[in-house]
Amino acid sequence: MKYKNKHCHIENISAEKLAKKFGTPSYIYSYNKLKENITNFQDHFKQFKPMICFSVKSNSNLKLLNLIGQFGLGADVVSKGELLKALKAKIKPNNIVFSGVGKTTDELKFAISKKIFLINAESENEILEIERIAKKNKKKINIGIRLNPDTDAKTINEISTGKKENKFGVTKKKFLYLINKYRDSRFIKIICLSVHIGSQIVNHNPYKKMLNVISKTIQEAKYKFSYIDLGGGMGIQYKKNANKLDYKKYSSLVKSFLKKNEVRIIFEPGRSIIGNTGYLLTKIIYIKETNKRNFIILDSAMNDMMRPALYKAEHMILPSKSSNTNINKIHEFVGPICETTDKFLTTTKYQKLYQGDILVICDVGAYGMVLSSNYNLRPKPAEILVRKNLSKILTQRQKLISII
Ligand code: LLP
Repeated sequence: MKYKNKHCHIENISAEKLAKKFGTPSYIYSYNKLKENITNFQDHFKQFKPMICFSVKSNSNLKLLNLIGQFGLGADVVSKGELLKALKAKIKPNNIVFSGVGKTTDELKFAISKKIFLINAESENEILEIERIAKKNKKKINIGIRLNPDTDAKTINEISTGKKENKFGVTKKKFLYLINKYRDSRFIKIICLSVHIGSQIVNHNPYKKMLNVISKTIQEAKYKFSYIDLGGGMGIQYKKNANKLDYKKYSSLVKSFLKKNEVRIIFEPGRSIIGNTGYLLTKIIYIKETNKRNFIILDSAMNDMMRPALYKAEHMILPSKSSNTNINKIHEFVGPICETTDKFLTTTKYQKLYQGDILVICDVGAYGMVLSSNYNLRPKPAEILVRKNLSKILTQRQKLISII
């Protein structure tokens, strides 16, 4: 995204042109940014050739998944739906890992029948269920066990997953017990230790702690794992000058971990691959001026993009046409939904805005469209891919008739 002659462009097309062509609200994704993110991610860790499985929960658009697969990534899925979508996007089963605390029998059977690469189990009862299915099919099934390393990811509480009070994974004690229980099992082969401590992590220290816990656990288990799945969580910059994850440091931490442990690493990145490739184009319906603040009422709302309402997440909002007209007054960018939390951002100043102006909500590629809903019976936005001068629809705007 850049400004050319004061007009905001996504790749080579102006936001205004895209809004006119596709309407608002619309999610716009940049092909080249996606490609660049994947190449960068691969480069950061290339010395140890990890298996990189894109976390489908962050964005499950079929065409984007297909591109991500073509760029060499596998998929991390958490439901039968995501698994079906990954397969439909032509991601090979042997590049798919299945995570999640509550996989149903149907989901486990389906994953096993598709011969996916790995199921990361999160409880003893889930392993028992996998074992039961394996016995019935007279098969030996490869699994991972998710360890809860009791590590604070120092991210927002709602997206922290690696502390002992979180529902994810098993404690180290339980992990060691399960390794012993299944060491010589006829039906279960434990090939992986998996973790995922949280999302939007911008400091390498939680990863350092996590790797130390894993090393200790491996030592105590006296067991040969073929894979260590480190999950995802790598944060992105939602604001200019915000902290960002030092990939060099993370990579060298993993490198020294690998000196002690001869395993292949799996990563499950979502946000770091897709987050900053996406923009939500929106139009100003009305401006309501009050003494203290201006409410900028947009045609997009919390049903289109939930992150601010759900996590108080702040996404930059840029004008499609910039001007030098700063108004020193509180601006609240809100949606039309009947909830006070239907608010995207509050700023202390902003350039002069007008009804009908197009605005660009930034960095919504991850956990944007996937979290959208029909709340207030609003149809879901369109999704568009831009590549240089070309734009094409990935998902049509939902028709009102289909939801009423
Ligand atoms: N692997 C596992 C097991 C996960 O639970 C997650 C995310 C990922 C990988 C990918 O994490 P990422 O690289 O995207 O941080 N809706 C929240 C984020 C929830 C993350 C859930 N798990 C948000 O909008 O910030």
